[in-house]
Amino acid sequence: MHERVSAGIIGTGSYLPDQVLNNYDLEKLVETSNQWICSRTGIQERRIADEDVSASDLAVRAAEAALEASGLSAGQLDLIIVATITPDMFFPSTACIVQDRIGAKNAVAFDISAACTGFVYGLTMAEQFVKLGTYRHILVIGVEVLSKFVDWSDRNTCILFGDGAGAAVLGPVTSQKGIQFSRLGSDGSGGDLLKIPAGGSKIPSSQYSLDNGLHFIKMSGKDIFKFAVKVMEHSTCDAMEACGLKVSDIDLLIPHQANLRIINSAAKRLKLPPEKVWVNIHRYGNISAASIPVALDEAVTLGKIREGSLVVLLGFGAGLTWGVNVIRW
Ligand code: UT7
Repeated sequence: MHERVSAGIIGTGSYLPDQVLNNYDLEKLVETSNQWICSRTGIQERRIADEDVSASDLAVRAAEAALEASGLSAGQLDLIIVATITPDMFFPSTACIVQDRIGAKNAVAFDISAACTGFVYGLTMAEQFVKLGTYRHILVIGVEVLSKFVDWSDRNTCILFGDGAGAAVLGPVTSQKGIQFSRLGSDGSGGDLLKIPAGGSKIPSSQYSLDNGLHFIKMSGKDIFKFAVKVMEHSTCDAMEACGLKVSDIDLLIPHQANLRIINSAAKRLKLPPEKVWVNIHRYGNISAASIPVALDEAVTLGKIREGSLVVLLGFGAGLTWGVNVIRW
């Protein structure tokens, strides 16, 4: 009989571009103010990739850091999953580009599209493969270059997003550790609330799509806000109940960083004190699929997560999608 194993995170890494765009810089681009952005979102600055930098460039840097932390070589990877909605191009997948660039010759590679929930979706897929024994070592990357898909004249969206990448290497660990529970959700009826309308097969790129800015992010902020607060509370309670634990057992909640008011409101409903909720939105803004792995890497590096810690990753975003991973470190 095989011993039961869990999928554990054995290394994390992240990479943020050097270029900082702060709220005062945005005041020069659109009718906004540092005061409005800080008070309505909590964001003070975000990172922006250089013009010639693409998703795979950021992903490779995060992947190399995660591999180094795991003590594995690229050749030991069996699978690479890249979660992104801002890939280098439609195809080949960004995962295949990363596979080639890091020299992961033995790895299968594919992308997934679940917007801001992408990393949680990726981790949950990887978990199944490790538990089944299909693949042993899996690299999951969340990466976005949202700055290239933002309408820099639309103050409703351009103040929110940034660029970056985070990665985690998964491998088998004893069943008491690692990912203890995962649950994903989708509701396609909310698809119109957050999208890039053009560039796909429905509205292919054309002079019309360019003239009308249809290749930029469109968002109904208020609706997403309400959905996010509700889903954060419900998913956390649901996951804790399924694990036979209480919300107060959580050592660190790492939510998707979309708006400080969303995070604070959910934390208040969950009665979680600020020291148990990771917040870095003031420095990076919303980096979609990269937000959770970047935050996770920060928390690990700063010693906020230790052996035995109960860590909850919580994502929500376009699709609509949401998901949660409960991890015993
Ligand atoms: O990653 C997951 C996806 N994204 C999210 O989770 C985002 C969720 N939504 C939000 O974070 C918030 O809805 C926003 C930050 C996007 C907007 O905040 P809000 O408090 O919902 O503002 P609002 O859209 O209701 O706008 C209030 C006012 C409006 O003016 P009027 O109509 O009251 O005169 C806006 O035009 O604020 C105005 N406004 C701005 N003012 C200054 C909107 N954006 C700006 C801005 N600067 N950047």
